Amino acid sequence: MMNRAHVPVLKDEILGLLEPGPGRRFVDGTFGFGGHSEALLDAGADVLGLDLDTEAVAACRRISTDRPRLHCQQCSFRDLVVAVRQEGWDAVDGVLLDLGVSSRQLDDPDKGFSYRADGPLDLRFDQGRGEPAHVLLGTVDEVELARILFEYGEERGSRRLARAIKLADQDEPVRTTTRLADVVRDTLPASAPINAILSRVFQALRIAVNDELRALEEALAATIAVVRPGGRIAVISYHSLEDRRVKQWLARERRDCLCPPEVPVCRCGHAATLRPITRRAVTAGDQEVATNPRARSARLRAAEVLPSAAKERS
Ligand SMILES: C[S@@+](CC[C@H](N)C(=O)[O-])C[C@H]1O[C@@H](n2cnc3c(N)ncnc32)[C@H](O)[C@@H]1O
Repeated sequence: MMNRAHVPVLKDEILGLLEPGPGRRFVDGTFGFGGHSEALLDAGADVLGLDLDTEAVAACRRISTDRPRLHCQQCSFRDLVVAVRQEGWDAVDGVLLDLGVSSRQLDDPDKGFSYRADGPLDLRFDQGRGEPAHVLLGTVDEVELARILFEYGEERGSRRLARAIKLADQDEPVRTTTRLADVVRDTLPASAPINAILSRVFQALRIAVNDELRALEEALAATIAVVRPGGRIAVISYHSLEDRRVKQWLARERRDCLCPPEVPVCRCGHAATLRPITRRAVTAGDQEVATNPRARSARLRAAEVLPSAAKERS
């Protein structure tokens, strides 16, 4: 049985957009607790659940023993095409990406996602590959760390923080969440919005460690290769860096020509591959936000794959 306490964000909206039903196949690229997958399975669909997180995939495999229409793989959604082929499926009717961190991951101090609990400064979705954040802090220089904090955390005090973190790390490696939080706190004036700044610092390091923005861009591009014409793609983002990329991708893929405006005749030959089906981002209503605070920042965008995508694929 899935985790009944977990309420997936914008579930009804996702079901309305993806239109699951018997004989239809979907990839849930961010399985997590399996909340969205469960809803798709309940509607009769087949689901391939992907996640980088070992525990999420273990849960998926446990659940699949009772629900044979659920398939599971531990991999990144950036490897969507390989994952679908590995299942022996040639195409799917839809892909869902519910980006970011699950509440279970946030609550697990061993993952290091939260400055609120003491744990190793890790921040990887898959702790079996790549380097944890404390190794990154030791290897990047101050300029690169400032770039990470500015670009991925949109943190305006990035240079000052980077200097303080690097100095502290040289003194004694910053290996834990609480040490990093203390270094940040000690650098800021008492009047600074400390929790907001800590959230941005941890978000920035998480994005860097997991190469999240590139993974998202690769996954979006891959959806066009695996979703059949008429099939749908839905993405839930939780911060503007992700949502901006989704929005720009939709704006590009709905267009027939990607040549710069000064080019009089199209040379690129690009044909539109998508028809956006959400005019602007769908957000959670007051009632959902009241029961599930995580839904507050959710922004859902969706599109339908056009028949011309087949030509762009080949
Ligand atoms: C917000 S949770 C998903 C919650 C899920 N929709 C549910 O209802 O339970 C996001 C999940 O995406 C996973 N994740 C993050 N980046 C990933 C990636 N590149 N590939 C696959 N899974 C990823 C995380 O490990 C986490 O379990």
